[in-house]
Amino acid sequence: MMLADEKLAAIRSGDACDLSRRDLTDILGAGPSVDEPLFHAASAVLERTVGPAVYLRGIVEISNACQKNCFYCGLRRDNPGVARYRMSSEEVLEALQEGFRAGLRSFLLQSGEMLGDEHIETVAQVLSECGRLWGDSVRMVLSLGELPRAVLDRLWAAGGRRFLLRIETSDRELYGRLHPRDGIHRWSERDACLGYLSSSGWQTGSGVLVGLPWQTVGHLAGDLEYLRGIDIDMCGMGPWIEHSGTPLFEARDSAPPVRERVSLTLRMIALLRIMMPEINISATTALQTLDPEGLEKGLQAGANVFMPNLTPARFRENYNLYEGKVLVRDDLETIIRSGKARCGSVRRLLVPDDPGDPLHYTRRLAAPGRGAEASGKADGGVL
Ligand code: 5AD
Ligand code: SF4
Repeated sequence: MMLADEKLAAIRSGDACDLSRRDLTDILGAGPSVDEPLFHAASAVLERTVGPAVYLRGIVEISNACQKNCFYCGLRRDNPGVARYRMSSEEVLEALQEGFRAGLRSFLLQSGEMLGDEHIETVAQVLSECGRLWGDSVRMVLSLGELPRAVLDRLWAAGGRRFLLRIETSDRELYGRLHPRDGIHRWSERDACLGYLSSSGWQTGSGVLVGLPWQTVGHLAGDLEYLRGIDIDMCGMGPWIEHSGTPLFEARDSAPPVRERVSLTLRMIALLRIMMPEINISATTALQTLDPEGLEKGLQAGANVFMPNLTPARFRENYNLYEGKVLVRDDLETIIRSGKARCGSVRRLLVPDDPGDPLHYTRRLAAPGRGAEASGKADGGVL
């Protein structure tokens, strides 16, 4: 029996324990027999801490325009095959209201990275309007790329409080192979932006891509330690999916096969649940794209957030970060009903009408000298 098996058994029974870098690498690189003890340990941790609840977060892809050129992403600036769009604040609000009526209380506004005033003002307007309509009953999460501090402060002033920015990989060298070296794709800038978010009171989320070309289990173990190191409140991790219109497509033979990318993603979720029991972890769309049972498997590994897509179909078909993205055409009520059944099938409970604040954040704010308090910003925000 490898040492990691003993540790997983101890974690499962509540007797321990921390996982060392070596354990993480061993578990990520182990054969299929590690999955059962790993997922059982993660489930036990989940049951003892955050419980069986699964929260809904509605995603609205507000624009697919992007100034960046990440080698893996279908929305990259130099992909001419994308019909670019920007939703107006009215269109965004309409999508949010439909979500609210269906019982959603947490929303993610996502776009490519753009610094233009018009884009930022649209988001600010949406935030103010959500605050006016729903006050404290709704949580808005922003995922708009790396933004300058002044812009983040502008969004905070409009009521923004939660931000998601994936580090993509914690390894600077690998990051360098996945992005152009042109001065606007700098790992250190991304890391600094995450640092600013977290130190200035934003509830901060991050995450990584799993199963990238050239990525090793050592890199992934480093990613888990990085995410814990920056003390995130929420996390989204998904498998890399090739897109034929991107440079990284050429390197696909250097990536693990699809099944292994799924399996590694599930192991990453389970390990992070063990390492950070009280954060929110989503079962990502990318995971569900590569595996029709991605939602159920993600939940069983330790995820606790399910993200229905609220982007109107006419825009959604142009938001292709990767190829084959699941395009669920059901109406929202049907998606939520089937979500309830799917959660139930793995003994979890989907809870609509709940914004699903991560316990980790609630505690972080309560601790003296932490969170918004430390930044000098009063957390009077409604969102
Ligand atoms: N496969 C999977 N995820 C991708 N993303 C971008 N391109 C891909 C891809 N080809 C993810 C990145 C980004 C998020 C918005 O989408 O992690 O942060
Ligand atoms: Fe733009 Fe984000 Fe895609 Fe990079 S991953 S090209 S920043 S949308």
